[in-house]
Amino acid sequence: MTDAAAPNPIPHQRRKRYAGKNPRRFEDKYKELSRDPQTIAKVIASGKTPVGTHRPIMVAEILQVLAPRPGDLAADCTLGYGGHAQEILTIILPGGKLLGLDTDPVELPKTEARLRARGIDEKSFSAHRTNFAGLPQILAAENLAGADLILADLGVSSMQIDDPARGFSVKHNGPLDMRMNPQRSQSAAALLQKIKPGALEEMLADFSDEPNAATLAQRLAEKSFATTLELAAAARAALPRLGKEDSDLTVRRVFQALRIAVNDEFSALETFLRNLPACLKPGGRVAILTFHSGEDRRVKKAFDAGFSDGSYSEISREVLRPSPEEQHSNPRSAPAKLRWARRSN
Ligand SMILES: C[S@@+](CC[C@H](N)C(=O)[O-])C[C@H]1O[C@@H](n2cnc3c(N)ncnc32)[C@H](O)[C@@H]1O
Repeated sequence: MTDAAAPNPIPHQRRKRYAGKNPRRFEDKYKELSRDPQTIAKVIASGKTPVGTHRPIMVAEILQVLAPRPGDLAADCTLGYGGHAQEILTIILPGGKLLGLDTDPVELPKTEARLRARGIDEKSFSAHRTNFAGLPQILAAENLAGADLILADLGVSSMQIDDPARGFSVKHNGPLDMRMNPQRSQSAAALLQKIKPGALEEMLADFSDEPNAATLAQRLAEKSFATTLELAAAARAALPRLGKEDSDLTVRRVFQALRIAVNDEFSALETFLRNLPACLKPGGRVAILTFHSGEDRRVKKAFDAGFSDGSYSEISREVLRPSPEEQHSNPRSAPAKLRWARRSN
């Protein structure tokens, strides 16, 4: 029933005006999403990820290989937005527990708050702001001998990539930072300012298979770049003959190599892979999602070695890939590769 005489309790809000049809700036997208929940469905339907969120990848395949059961102890070593964690929690509760690890002090508290708001208490879920290389210490601190299932979904989350202030974005300008934990180590700008051309060439070749590593290193090493777009422009200018598509790929590879270096990603992954068998209960399962060849090579090598020395009784023989439907509906899933292993009894 409406009462025409009563004042309207919800003041009419004008839709925000943008230069184009849709908001372009991160802040405007963020505001629009928080005010208009229907937009979220529209953004997802268009194949994009709503800003400030992350869409979990290969969920069905991961649940199949990890085979969670009620009462299991799970470790999600890259909690991110908590998408995979929520799916696992739905199965292991009641009686189970999920340890959620993430190195990111900005997003972890938000994810923990979202999970708590869904009624997930401390007995069922604990959040740990830590590098996953430290998983053995987290298990020990919780008095746990090992996990039934372990998941690592490597790389950065959509919240991190999409927020220009974090400095990962090749599209939107922001400080050239790229640290998953901005309280630790040095930013990408500080690294570039100090690094010698020879070391940068090696980094570009090793971390992102960059074919023009030498030329780029000469132009980018020991230089000051305050913002992401300054670096992107300098990388393009170093290789002026490349067409647009190759130039875009070059910028992506430069950003990928720097991100890996700034966050010491390969050392963390190698330590994690070394620790894994001891962190699993006998018969426990691990699944790892990778997003580029440097990660996948390391996971494959560690699983092969663990199978040969008897630590693992079974490993994935082939990589699993997202279905064509998933790649279409979430293009960010396209490069994903999934491998798994089962600890011997
Ligand atoms: C791709 S996202 C994970 C998304 C998550 N599976 C979900 O469904 O929302 C990767 C996350 O791993 C975290 N991360 C990356 N390297 C890490 C490391 N060495 N230790 C702990 N967390 C790490 C990042 O901060 C990021 O939040």
